[in-house]
Amino acid sequence: MKAIFYLSGENECFARFEVLNLLEGKEIERDNQILVADVRRDEFWRLALTHEVSKFYTSCSLNELEEVFKEIPVEGSVCVRVVKIRRPDLKSLDLEKMLGYVLWRRGFKINLNDPKTAIRVYVSKRCYVGYLIHKTDKKQFLKRHPNKRPFTMPCVIPPKIGRAMVNITAGRRILDPMCGTGTFLIEAGLMNLDFVGVEAYERIVRGCAENLRFFKLPTNVLRGDARSLPFKDCCFDGVVTDFPYKRSTKSFGENLVERAVEEIYRVLKEGCRAVLVINLDIDDLVGEHFDIEGKCYQRVHKSLERRFYICRKTF
Ligand SMILES: C[S@@+](CC[C@H](N)C(=O)[O-])C[C@H]1O[C@@H](n2cnc3c(N)ncnc32)[C@H](O)[C@@H]1O
Repeated sequence: MKAIFYLSGENECFARFEVLNLLEGKEIERDNQILVADVRRDEFWRLALTHEVSKFYTSCSLNELEEVFKEIPVEGSVCVRVVKIRRPDLKSLDLEKMLGYVLWRRGFKINLNDPKTAIRVYVSKRCYVGYLIHKTDKKQFLKRHPNKRPFTMPCVIPPKIGRAMVNITAGRRILDPMCGTGTFLIEAGLMNLDFVGVEAYERIVRGCAENLRFFKLPTNVLRGDARSLPFKDCCFDGVVTDFPYKRSTKSFGENLVERAVEEIYRVLKEGCRAVLVINLDIDDLVGEHFDIEGKCYQRVHKSLERRFYICRKTF
């Protein structure tokens, strides 16, 4: 299906990978926060970094919109909403009124509250017209904010980003070998995926288990060392992890990064993905083992910039 994804502006790079990997999509066009893609799967409800999804109808210039609305197929009552992206020169309401008027003249009933057909016009450099099929519930992430869990630690990745990381792997059996409070495990569990967490410190293992119970998920977390994981080769189809940041979380043992990357490679199935978060550039190390499919950045504060490595174990 060809669809328009209105991506969250907080990390467009990551948002794009989430759509394309999770939904097995092929990118057709990109324009600021708009991604047009041909997707083979429709698990839109899992997306974290997409505001809305609309079934693609057409794309056009601003001048061509009126002509498009003279012909666009509509079923039953209709509502048009315009979403502008980096277009301060435009007034959405005026455009909505103008396009609604064209539909009204064609004899359609306008229903702003509960329309049968909800048309979206995303106006960026070009205009993308489609039928709304999904809106992401953003409040769910506030409800799962790390401070609302029984056990928390400093600098925990927000659940929205955590969910996107799990989705980018597109795996069904997920490992986090340094799971801390369990952000990735919680997101995987709430999406009905199998998961296992490993953590070096007993106190944190107990805290993570408490968090998992809080979300009514199985307490699949064990004490262990990411440098020598207690799993067979090739037994996970997704790995997500967040390496310790020197100031806020302790590393257990020496050469953690080198040895953990080797172990992650060992336990991951061929053809599958790992998403690794770290505050250092480790391109050479990661590149020794994996194909690096992408690298995105997130500035947290002055002294912490996260790098997200999207890695694939090739055959
Ligand atoms: C940045 S935190 C992970 C935060 C986590 N993503 C969360 O949601 O809370 C890194 C974690 O790795 C753990 N850790 C450090 N060295 C480890 C090792 N050798 N094996 C396993 N876990 C380790 C730390 O105790 C810490 O909880």
